[in-house]
Amino acid sequence: MVELQLSSIAKYYGNVPVIKTFDLAINKGEFITLLGSSGCGKSTTLAMIAGLEAPSSGEISFQGRLLASAEKKVFVEPEARGFGVVFQSYALWPHMTVENNLAFPLRVRNIPAAEQKHRIAQTLELVGLTGLGTRYPGQLSGGQQQRVGLARALVYQPSMLLLDEPLSNLDALLREQARVWLKEIQLRLGITTLYVTHDQTEALSLSDRIVVMKNGHIEQVGTPQDIYERPATPFVAEFVGSANFIPGTVSGEAGQELHLSLPEQQTARIRDPGGFKPGDRIILAVRPEKLTPENEPSGNSLSVGLKRSIYVGERFSYECEFGGKNLQAFGKFPLSEGRVNLYFSPLAATLFPANAMVPN
Ligand SMILES: Nc1ncnc2c1ncn2[C@@H]1O[C@H](COP(=O)(O)OP(=O)(O)OP(=O)(O)O)[C@@H](O)[C@H]1O
Ligand SMILES: [Mg+2]
Repeated sequence: MVELQLSSIAKYYGNVPVIKTFDLAINKGEFITLLGSSGCGKSTTLAMIAGLEAPSSGEISFQGRLLASAEKKVFVEPEARGFGVVFQSYALWPHMTVENNLAFPLRVRNIPAAEQKHRIAQTLELVGLTGLGTRYPGQLSGGQQQRVGLARALVYQPSMLLLDEPLSNLDALLREQARVWLKEIQLRLGITTLYVTHDQTEALSLSDRIVVMKNGHIEQVGTPQDIYERPATPFVAEFVGSANFIPGTVSGEAGQELHLSLPEQQTARIRDPGGFKPGDRIILAVRPEKLTPENEPSGNSLSVGLKRSIYVGERFSYECEFGGKNLQAFGKFPLSEGRVNLYFSPLAATLFPANAMVPN
């Protein structure tokens, strides 16, 4: 069931478009992530949902209720939307204890004192901070402060959770632990969550669906597997994971397969994705982990120049040259430099039209 609906949202600052015709439907209980590089409009989108910014055009509705419409001059104030928000900087009130930080949103909503006490205790337990309620934020670690930020958003039982880079202030290890913990809480509460990050690992591991954004528009919406294994554009292929882009031409069709001519008079076969015909100029995208010196029977073989093998933990990264461009592959063993054969499956590559390769 659709809970939050964004219909043709746009946002201009002056006459600069920051969000361009954004359409998205978020289902009840879904964990959805806005993923994109700095400045692509993630926080602006979240701020429009939270009610901190008004869209320049288009509509936002939640559970069928119109929250914002530029055309109909509707704008529901943030407090009246009832969403829990955690910002990029989690901004706790330093002069208030943890308990008082949590009591504040309850007081604003006129929750009786006894109920406040109960909810605060319950929420501190949920985020694993029982016993720390009388401390001040300055007496907590970064990770604990982050939990207080989340607790403050959860304490009044919001109808939706909006999280803007909530783990960005944590070091790598804490971040990984917080990720697991955050997902558990979200599943336990079944709360619809919109999460903002520029970290692909976070997006892949937390989300039911990911919205990949670029320059204020949506490049692709899909499950983590869709996004990773079937990227819709070269940008998505490169932004989520990494990809080698090899230019070529479709040379023929045979059954379920397309034949490709690649640089240095080499060829490949891939599963026909549809929409291409002989003579078309294409870009073949192959992920480094799908390109290896370990032969597989049905594989394509490329002869490339190996420049270096680098041990990167668990495996070796091969820096190669092919058709005058750098190419990366992975494998289990060190290889000496010179000509090597790399293999990839006809199923492990994505094809884009050559003109899809626009500079970022
Ligand atoms: N109040 C404002 N006035 C003018 N431009 C703004 C304003 N707020 C944001 N922008 C611009 O809008 C664009 C999108 O900003 P936004 O904060 O949404 O990006 P973001 O995707 O959250 O980036 P980051 O990952 O760095 O947080 C940026 O180019 C930014 O400079
Ligand atoms: Mg931001």
